[in-house]
Amino acid sequence: MRSKVSSSSPSQQQLSLVSPPVFAGVCRCFVGVSRCRSDPRGPQWTGYAAVMSSLLLLLLPLFILTPTTALEFRYHRNGEIEKYLRDISTSNPDIAHVYSIGRSVRGQQLWVLVLSLSPRHHSIGIPEFKYVANMHGNEVLGRVLLLQLIDDLVRGHRNKEAWSVQLLNSTRIHILPTMNPDGFDDAGTHCQFSQGRFNHNGVDLNRNFPDAFAGKRQQGQFVEETQEAEVRAVIGWLRSETFVLSANLHGGALVASYPYDNSNGGSEQVGGASVTPDNDVFVHLAKVYSYNHGSMHRGDSCKDGLSFNDGITNGYQWYALKGGMQDYNYVWAQCLEVTLEVSCCKFPPKDQLPALWTENREALLAFIRGQRSCV
Ligand SMILES: *[C@@H]1O[C@H](CO)[C@@H](O)[C@H](O)[C@H]1NC(C)=O
Repeated sequence: MRSKVSSSSPSQQQLSLVSPPVFAGVCRCFVGVSRCRSDPRGPQWTGYAAVMSSLLLLLLPLFILTPTTALEFRYHRNGEIEKYLRDISTSNPDIAHVYSIGRSVRGQQLWVLVLSLSPRHHSIGIPEFKYVANMHGNEVLGRVLLLQLIDDLVRGHRNKEAWSVQLLNSTRIHILPTMNPDGFDDAGTHCQFSQGRFNHNGVDLNRNFPDAFAGKRQQGQFVEETQEAEVRAVIGWLRSETFVLSANLHGGALVASYPYDNSNGGSEQVGGASVTPDNDVFVHLAKVYSYNHGSMHRGDSCKDGLSFNDGITNGYQWYALKGGMQDYNYVWAQCLEVTLEVSCCKFPPKDQLPALWTENREALLAFIRGQRSCV
């Protein structure tokens, strides 16, 4: 953990990226001053211009610094997230593109930012990847982590850092920072038990997907009749993009959980787990996250009596649930999705956010690279 802090502390990155644009600006400004020397409006004007130029020279770094300042560690409101994603895509049109997959029950857009060297279109051979957070409105660390991830990737690319350029050149990364903006608006800040988990209709979105283990007759009816707006939006999203790998960020535990979450007691049941034909890949992917995380792999980090070998678990083995998103991704969209429980506290105090980012940063990046094991 300590070595991670020294190699990737946010303040260090901020410093290293600040200098180049400042120098560029200073050079441009000197060109302006020298042209003023031969100004036909006379020596007085030249003096005035020189003073103004020096003033400008002093102020310029302020203007240049504003957009490169690292994203603040706090809980941004839904409107602020929209503005942030739009600003990123406006100022980085070569690698970023923002779109909405639909609206929440109360009409808030579900914004996605794509980061890639080809942000607007699928390219042959470039896998589609996605991160989803805040499906439960009161599990909020994922929102913060995904915004920081965007900030980090964009900054890395702007500084031509190989880790970022390579990631954006080999993957199209779709990021949905909040799947449940209405729930977030109602969320209480208690670590485990508080309101805001459900959507505006009081429905748990991670129980509202067509269930992989329900009968065929039921599955057909589901989409039009009983799916919530947010779930319908995600289903449409899965139909429009061919995702190969995905993670869904939750809170309240520290573990990477992989499909299935449900079972109907068929051959998928193996020793208390409900396993997919791709079980070895899922176990590998879950470990990619837990071992690149600062402490998840130790498996006992929440000190609540629960322990997970290697910091991973089969979803069903932990507790069975119907209508979950990861089973739907796997069965209907052939997308390998894992559920990442990224913090013991569902709504961590703001001052813990920088350390929580440091714990998760490398794992979030490594998991995206994990798409290599899927294609
Ligand atoms: C992206 O990857 C391709 C294929 O490996 C390579 O030819 C190209 O130079 C890369 N582009 C950048 C900007 O790294």
